[in-house]
Amino acid sequence: MPLLTNIGCLASCRPEGGQGEIHLVHQAALAWDGAGIRWVGPERELPASLAGLPREDAGGRLVIPGLVDCHTHLAFGGWRADEFGQRILGTTYLEIAARGGGIASTVRRTRAASTEELLERCRGHLAAMARLGVTTVEAKSGYGLSREEELRLLEIYARLAAEGPQRLVPTLLAAHVVPPEYRDRRDEYVRLVIEEIIPAAAGRGLARYCDVFVEEGAFPVTEARRILAAGRAHGLVPKLHADQLSAGGGAELAAEVGAASADHLECISEAGIRRMADVGVVAVSLPFASLYLNVPPLPARRLIAAGVPVAVATDFNPGSAPSYHLPMALTLACTLQRMTPAEALKGATSIAARAIGCLDEVGSLEPGKRADFAVIDAESVEQWLYHLRANACVRTVAAGVDLHTA
Ligand code: NIG
Ligand code: FE
Repeated sequence: MPLLTNIGCLASCRPEGGQGEIHLVHQAALAWDGAGIRWVGPERELPASLAGLPREDAGGRLVIPGLVDCHTHLAFGGWRADEFGQRILGTTYLEIAARGGGIASTVRRTRAASTEELLERCRGHLAAMARLGVTTVEAKSGYGLSREEELRLLEIYARLAAEGPQRLVPTLLAAHVVPPEYRDRRDEYVRLVIEEIIPAAAGRGLARYCDVFVEEGAFPVTEARRILAAGRAHGLVPKLHADQLSAGGGAELAAEVGAASADHLECISEAGIRRMADVGVVAVSLPFASLYLNVPPLPARRLIAAGVPVAVATDFNPGSAPSYHLPMALTLACTLQRMTPAEALKGATSIAARAIGCLDEVGSLEPGKRADFAVIDAESVEQWLYHLRANACVRTVAAGVDLHTA
């Protein structure tokens, strides 16, 4: 059983308290036993029974829970660098989509990619995320958009999850957009999602969540309601891409169906904020998507003031958020969304874990939870997120296994 000592500052990020309460411990120590945390606290209070353990030295650095990226579109073929320049010159995301670009072009490239190729790409992304301190990743399907292709993406996630030790949480996003071959018969696609894809994905245990992109050009609230109800009937918990480009009632629907989270929310209405607070839906903020689409970010301060917990995730995808750099997303949550560094960190640890239903195992440093943590070369959370570097993470441990040492 190893004991990490000389931790200058440990942010335990226990869930209790408000968004900014990350429960710091100064001059801390952390002991873990196999895959689980055994003890955490001030080094001077270390129980005598643990004093003889083999020691590792954190060099006075910051220790945080393994980061939780609670919203990614991990498996996709190709990239869309060509659209980046077009968008900068003023073509909108919806205009690009209307020309057959955007999500539809990634769907073409994903379908054309072999399973081995997609697996290898995902392994590469996950390894890079591990080096940044990310130990839990939610991963959505949504670039397959047929029964066979959606299941193929979810099976890829099942294989990656089995390879571990990073934890993967799979989400079915068959309702990302209506695929081109169903353009003139969207009712049939909605029926396919409800009657075939959801039962097949849930029946094989390949997804925990059912997500819908509620937006003009994607799915209206009426269809989303039916799709999420079907998911729920098969045991899949609802999640939504809501109010990203327009206030379309997505947040209100998230509250109505008791979603685990509503994500994006750049255009959320006051009523939507109140409804989410009443029901306890987590808001997942995605600062890369706001930055790349050049839209004002979600109103994090108003959400927090209303009592809505705000998670922070990357939205890693080839269109609106081509980066898996979660620590950089946290810095952007501070600068763009006006969240404090402590609030941003809680949003990528215990609040993110709550958004993907694994708070009982990850998201905070407490005895009994998984030994998932990162050692950050900074003296405080503020110093870490303020001084933006390529990578400040010098060590990542997931389930007691070393994934990265700098
Ligand atoms: O979360 N909003 C919809 N889906 C993704 C974008 C996917 C893409 O552009 O390929 C998002 O931003
Ligand atoms: Fe997304």
